[in-house]
Amino acid sequence: MNAPADTGRCTAAADNGRVLIAPSVLSADFTRLAEAVAVAEAGGADYIHVDVMDGHFVPNLTIGPPVIKALKRVATVPLDVHIMIDNPDSTIDWYLDAGADSVSVHIEASPQIGRTLRRIRERGASPAVTLNPGTPVSAVRTMLAEVDMVLVMSVNPGFGGQSFIEDSVGRIAELAALCATEGASPLIQVDGGINSETAAKVTAVGARCLVAGNAVFGQPDIAKAIADIRSAAEAALG
Ligand code: DX5
Ligand code: ZN
Repeated sequence: MNAPADTGRCTAAADNGRVLIAPSVLSADFTRLAEAVAVAEAGGADYIHVDVMDGHFVPNLTIGPPVIKALKRVATVPLDVHIMIDNPDSTIDWYLDAGADSVSVHIEASPQIGRTLRRIRERGASPAVTLNPGTPVSAVRTMLAEVDMVLVMSVNPGFGGQSFIEDSVGRIAELAALCATEGASPLIQVDGGINSETAAKVTAVGARCLVAGNAVFGQPDIAKAIADIRSAAEAALG
């Protein structure tokens, strides 16, 4: 498996006891995004997580392709782009053109998800499938061999700073078991309410890539916040 910095893509890289940390710039100061990226990278961020919301699939409107393109000019780690939009199948190229290194597509939003995941791969990026908290884990079974990552939402998407849904721990364990049964090894990513305490819980059951917004950019010392989440998670690896 390749380290993310070598490939410029988000691939299953947590093969050496490391847990990957993807700070979400949704909680950063939007007037100083370049600085936020630089500080997170200096603090050891493995990816920069970018939340695209359209005001339809989720009740919030955030970042779109022009801002991804700008972030791509300054980021040195891969951009992990999480698209929370209706009908992603028809606009997937916008995000790839903008420079996304991985694109996470919600299974609930995508009637042609197989085609869309293949398109992401064809364009040289990493495909990922995302599950809302209410979607059965088994819904991704047929996609496990095709994706580099499965993103398990641990809040209902739309906003940073929400509380972790505890039921997510069991869902991540279920996904890890399903991957083992299917002989697939996508990176299991978790997004929503991740802090040092929840990071340990989700890592213990199989998560290897943690998105954190408020617990990183909402803290006075961003590098320390990343290090704290990482060490809590890695301690849970046993
Ligand atoms: C929520 C987004 C998350 C958000 C996480 O819909 O997908 O990436 O930024 O923020 P925290 O870590 O504050 O819950
Ligand atoms: Zn996200």
